[in-house]
Amino acid sequence: MGRIDRVQGFIWLLKRCQGQCIGWGVSDYVRITEVSPRDGLQNEPAAISTADKLRLIEALVESGVDEVELTSFVSPKWVPQLGDAAEVIAGAAAFKTERVQYSALVPNEQGLARAFGVHEQVDAIDKISVFTAASETFTKKNTNATVDETLDRFRPVIDNARRAGLVVRGYVSCAIACPYEGEVAPEAVARVAARLLALGVDEIDLGDTIGAGTPDSIEQLVQTMYDRLGPCRETDIGEPCLTLHLHDTNGQAIACAVRALELGVRSFDSAVGGLGGCPYATVGDKRAPGNVATESLVDAIEAAGYQTGVDRKALARAAAVAASLPVAGVAS
Ligand code: HMG
Ligand code: MG
Repeated sequence: MGRIDRVQGFIWLLKRCQGQCIGWGVSDYVRITEVSPRDGLQNEPAAISTADKLRLIEALVESGVDEVELTSFVSPKWVPQLGDAAEVIAGAAAFKTERVQYSALVPNEQGLARAFGVHEQVDAIDKISVFTAASETFTKKNTNATVDETLDRFRPVIDNARRAGLVVRGYVSCAIACPYEGEVAPEAVARVAARLLALGVDEIDLGDTIGAGTPDSIEQLVQTMYDRLGPCRETDIGEPCLTLHLHDTNGQAIACAVRALELGVRSFDSAVGGLGGCPYATVGDKRAPGNVATESLVDAIEAAGYQTGVDRKALARAAAVAASLPVAGVAS
């Protein structure tokens, strides 16, 4: 990927975000990515129909969130709940607006080929997300690979996605703690993030996969990212977007988000109704925790004096759709 392409890609991203998605304190606008159709539904025991997923996605688009993470092109043997990824994207294309971005998880070249298959038909995907972690055990359980092997898999995925004009997000899971290995050092997270950036991802998303964060540990993490990845702001594509993806085990996700806002983070993932959790972060009978609820996150962001593009009434309608699905544990 040449320098010009990468700069153009970044400018395109800026336009899509209306200059408002960049972290590090440049704006009062906070970007919201709704991950409930993907992270929210991937761990649900009951089968959720494609039509129900589309009802949820349509309501989320109407709520005014900046991005909806629609689904995953992972192996349906690993995550059968999202085996209808192509149908979901084809269906969601019908109510896509200029404002919203659509994204999907892609773990390998096979996943990218599936994503391209539907993208060629409907041109609805703006972004793909590759995902690894700062923990070897979690990465092995989640993707049957070492961290090094995931990064090797991503190289052609990132190159080809960018060549096709798609934005690429790089997730680093277990950014605070791993369900198998315990506490994770912020330096280890920053090292994986730096390797993803070197491969060409446009943005980094730090996942507190099991919701172990506290405001102080989030501050340490964000500060370490700024300290270690400072030079990345001067790479070809300029300053990368930094997103936080908070799960809410201990009820501290909102306090973590507020601390991150104070530190200049301007992009968060969340799921309406607090849906969600990674099936490979469930240990024994300890189910992986849900994502921070979009309703609570938007309330906290706006109470702290920042703006989102979210219409609360429309978001409440999306929450009602989520509550009507056969899912466990939707927060009321
Ligand atoms: P593997 O079994 O090592 O893959 O899985 P493989 O290459 O050996 O292939 C095995 C079979 O899967 C083959 O089929 C392949 O064709 C097929 P068979 O020959 O047996 O019939 N296959 C695929 N089929 C469809 N799409 C594909 C694909 N790839 C292989 N893309 C793999 C490796 C990565 C595929 C697997 O481990 C996997 O799908 N893992 C994904 C698990 C997952 O989705 N986890 C949840 C998302 S991560 C998360 O939730 C965290 C996050 O929210 C942030 C946070 O909270 O921290 C993002
Ligand atoms: Mg997650």
